[in-house]
Amino acid sequence: MCGIIGYIGYKEAYPFLVNGLKKLEYRGYDSSGIAVFCENKYSICKTKGSVSELEKKIFLSNTNMKGTVGIGHTRWATHGIPDDINAHPHVSNSNELIMIHNGIIENYHAIKIILLENGFTFKSETDTEVLVNLIEYIKKENKFSLEKAVRISLNEIIGAYSIAIIDKYNPETIIVAKLGSPIALGINEKEFFISSDPIPFINYTKNVLYLKDGEMAIIKKNKKLDLRKIIDNHKLNPIIEKLKINLKEIEKGKYKYFMLKEIYEQPKSILNTLRGRLLIQNKKKEIIISIDGIDSNKNVFINAKCITIIACGSSWHASLIGEYLLEKFTRIPVEVEYASEFRYRNPIIDKKDIIIVISQSGETADTLSALKLAKEKGAFVFGICNVVGSSIARNVNAGVYTHAGPEIGVASTKSFTAQITVLILLALKIGKYKSVIDKTLYKNLCRELICIPKKIYNTLKIDKHIKKISHIYYKVNNFLYLGRGINFPVALEGSLKLKEISYIHAEGYPAAEMKHGPIALVDEKTPIVIIAIKDRYYEKIIANIQEIKARKGKIIAIINEEDIQIRMLVDHVIKIPKISEELSPLITIIPLQLLAYQIADICGKNVDKPRNLAKSVTVE
Ligand code: AGP
Ligand code: GLU
Repeated sequence: MCGIIGYIGYKEAYPFLVNGLKKLEYRGYDSSGIAVFCENKYSICKTKGSVSELEKKIFLSNTNMKGTVGIGHTRWATHGIPDDINAHPHVSNSNELIMIHNGIIENYHAIKIILLENGFTFKSETDTEVLVNLIEYIKKENKFSLEKAVRISLNEIIGAYSIAIIDKYNPETIIVAKLGSPIALGINEKEFFISSDPIPFINYTKNVLYLKDGEMAIIKKNKKLDLRKIIDNHKLNPIIEKLKINLKEIEKGKYKYFMLKEIYEQPKSILNTLRGRLLIQNKKKEIIISIDGIDSNKNVFINAKCITIIACGSSWHASLIGEYLLEKFTRIPVEVEYASEFRYRNPIIDKKDIIIVISQSGETADTLSALKLAKEKGAFVFGICNVVGSSIARNVNAGVYTHAGPEIGVASTKSFTAQITVLILLALKIGKYKSVIDKTLYKNLCRELICIPKKIYNTLKIDKHIKKISHIYYKVNNFLYLGRGINFPVALEGSLKLKEISYIHAEGYPAAEMKHGPIALVDEKTPIVIIAIKDRYYEKIIANIQEIKARKGKIIAIINEEDIQIRMLVDHVIKIPKISEELSPLITIIPLQLLAYQIADICGKNVDKPRNLAKSVTVE
């Protein structure tokens, strides 16, 4: 994965490129580089590290970045360590072709051997340098235009890419192409913007073209965009859409980090997820759940034999919560799969099965590939995505957007609760269609859902208290997170949050599983975060707490406000409002998000950009 950026127009390219790359750093930030073109010359600067470090290097080295055409890259290494040499852009052997790439060329090794036999040499360890040289080889051998050489080369490779390439002797043209990795073009009368997502050019134009898989665009200064199919050069009609993004949503405002802002946004984001979907009918005061993607496929859901939910990371945790909800309310058997595992084991899929794919970004390569496999096998694929117009959203048979708004922090927070909200709506709605859900339960849960934003708002008030607890434990090496039933996936999510942003080892377990192994980890130094709300597991959880206390573990318990029993048994309590078990993950996750955030912040970590991670994992 990585962020790619480009500009061709009449203004200086550098300011747009550098600022745009900063907005794309959520996609990768281990190295970066920019090349700017002026007449038949170009300047290039690359460095290990973030875009700010690149800016510094350009400033200190006095590199002349003048020119109205340019490309840039912020990398998340797949082939070769993050360093100055492996950073993009990559330059062909003759120094004529300059290219940036997001993705992986799977057959790069075989191509590299052929190129080596033909006298090519390589400076970097990347697959990208192989591709730019393949293009050069095909171009020179056959005296092809760059456009034709790109097309022929791309038809030779296996893998995923979005690329932008320039010939230094013809810098009035940029060729971009896409398969698997995203690319958006911003289009003004006399300028084009190229970017992995539209946010970098939102201030310049609202006209956007999302390149589809297998398409390439030949972008020339002062000319109309030429869109082609890579496979056969067939000319395509560009479909230009209007961007609808509110700028405030992508600014940090008063918050130190986007993650904190996004945690605090949850009362609003959940309201947005529910908006227009949970409707109270005036006359009978009946509550209706209205979701187009489900309404228009009512029979598919009613007749479903089995539902498989596919996702990665936090979205996979939300899927586990979905499993509890869907099985309970619809009585359809549900399986939850890691996307990366699902696609490699020839899964058995019946035509009456429903596959649900869940993804915040809608660009996760593993999930996208699993989706395509499921479709090939004839399944009906339903998507739950946050990013509108993303690859997953465009590839599913039907779906629903979570409408959580842009999530910039690498650690998912508001998109996770938005996904759970959608899963609750979905489960209730299908349960009602099939008449298998108890009417009173349906009504009560719908009513309670309306109050969730307020309850989250109240829960957020415990932040200060959590900060105090964080000061006690930020130096420990291991944490355990425990929960039962629908709150077991919440424990998994809480532990993922902590490890990804603070680098403290944390494990999530079903509380009752502890005695089958993990209890061996418990000693007086181990903090154990345990979700112990008043649900049907309450008494059992108290027994688990006793077991930990007998081994001197330190317990941080998430309890209901009115609970007095657990308070007496544990080291710290974090109180949350009373809530039905089925909806409880929407509240129990809030203190766990805050705990991870506060610990990481006290440890001085870069919360929004944790090491080795990227927001959108567009490589397999
Ligand atoms: C969550 O905090 C992670 N950063 C990560 O696990 C993420 O949930 C995963 O990569 C899936 O992403 P998606 O929802 O965009 O598909
Ligand atoms: N495979 C390329 C590399 O390792 C691109 C990775 C990316 O998408 O950032 O440099």
